[in-house]
Amino acid sequence: MVKYSFDKSKIKVLLLEGIHENAVQCFRENGYSDIECLNGALSGPELEKKLHGTHIVGIRSRTELRKEMLIRSPKLLAIGCFSIGTNQVDTLDAKLLGIPVFNAPFSNTRSVAELVIAECIMLMRGIPEKSALAQKKIWMKSLNNSVEVRGKNLGIIGYGHIGSQVSILAESMGMNIYYYDIEKKLNLGNARPVNSLNELLKISDTVTIHVPSTELTRNMISRDQIALMKKGACLINASRGDIVDYDAVAEALRSKHLAGIAADVFPEEPASNNEPFVNELQNFNNVILTPHIAGSTLEAQANIGLEVAEKLVKYSDTGSTLGAVNFVQISLQPNTSKQRFLHTHKNVPGVLRELNDYFSSKGINISAEFLQTDPDIGYVILETESELDYSVLQDLKNISHTIRARILF
Ligand code: NAI
Repeated sequence: MVKYSFDKSKIKVLLLEGIHENAVQCFRENGYSDIECLNGALSGPELEKKLHGTHIVGIRSRTELRKEMLIRSPKLLAIGCFSIGTNQVDTLDAKLLGIPVFNAPFSNTRSVAELVIAECIMLMRGIPEKSALAQKKIWMKSLNNSVEVRGKNLGIIGYGHIGSQVSILAESMGMNIYYYDIEKKLNLGNARPVNSLNELLKISDTVTIHVPSTELTRNMISRDQIALMKKGACLINASRGDIVDYDAVAEALRSKHLAGIAADVFPEEPASNNEPFVNELQNFNNVILTPHIAGSTLEAQANIGLEVAEKLVKYSDTGSTLGAVNFVQISLQPNTSKQRFLHTHKNVPGVLRELNDYFSSKGINISAEFLQTDPDIGYVILETESELDYSVLQDLKNISHTIRARILF
């Protein structure tokens, strides 16, 4: 009998695009030694060649992992997107091939919140306009459009990770916090929920938007909503470019209904720093325009390195898929006393029965079984206390509709 053992030195990790050193450290500290790091992105035959023997790949936003590439990477167990978005990967195809994809949705939350706070103060003091004029040799020493944030109302649309961080920071500066969210949320500090977006818009001195881009939020702030805002109010959008109608904002800036806006995201953003950036808000002084960098800080990058690497290690070590963007979620701790099988299969009737029949025909007692399914796949983790023959893995792979099988111990 050839006893199966999970040898981490045989797991090849490939990290592309200069992923932060924290990721490498995390893999090493958890016993992974075969780690290759490259500074650039890869594509085409070069990527295919590298992926051929790779079990875990880490990418940022410039390496694309499309269906054909995934099909041609038979050893690939998991993908780590060291980024917030995962558009660079065909995540559905990855799932159908049994490959979970992990990302770092919250690593830059604090970075966004801090910038929003800074912008809130800058806008309410009228600094962008005064600064723009000073650059043009105009001395505009005036207290017009200049107020403290203390005691003013901040309206937060979307009280999720970023919205609630903004809430805590703004309250500590003495602001009154109101928020609108479609979900019931735990109020932090003295923050108060309101019943409708319109109500929030009417009472806020500054409105900041922290919702995802969805059917419901597209153009959520347009002419009608801006008309409800207080005269002289400010707007901050560091969420997504299609949530605010910037033509309507431009109109409101022209009519002085809005005192200023900070925008970090736009409906059309240049794909690289070499392309020009054009937006109607460039015609105004009382705006802060930033190139989608609200979440871009050294700390966020370091956090992303750790967050994604930890998820990849956890999946490789235990089979836990918690946090995967494309996979059913099972979260388990390492279990050293038992053998653990991971089996991903097409979600069709009879697979689980076949699996269980297989173990009972071998006289192997199943001590625990965890199953999650979605319409496409089933992912089952089985634990046994028996010593395992390596051939068991091959037998599991032969079960009909199997996508992938692994053994851990
Ligand atoms: P989150 O998922 O933690 O929070 C979003 C909140 O919006 C949730 O509480 C949700 O219930 C609420 N929501 C969803 N639809 C809504 C609706 N129609 N009306 C009211 N509330 C609604 O997300 P997180 O991490 O706070 O991110 C928020 C936004 O910030 C996202 O659009 C994200 O893409 C963007 N973002 C932008 C960055 C940048 O660099 N500018 C960096 C990171 C995130």
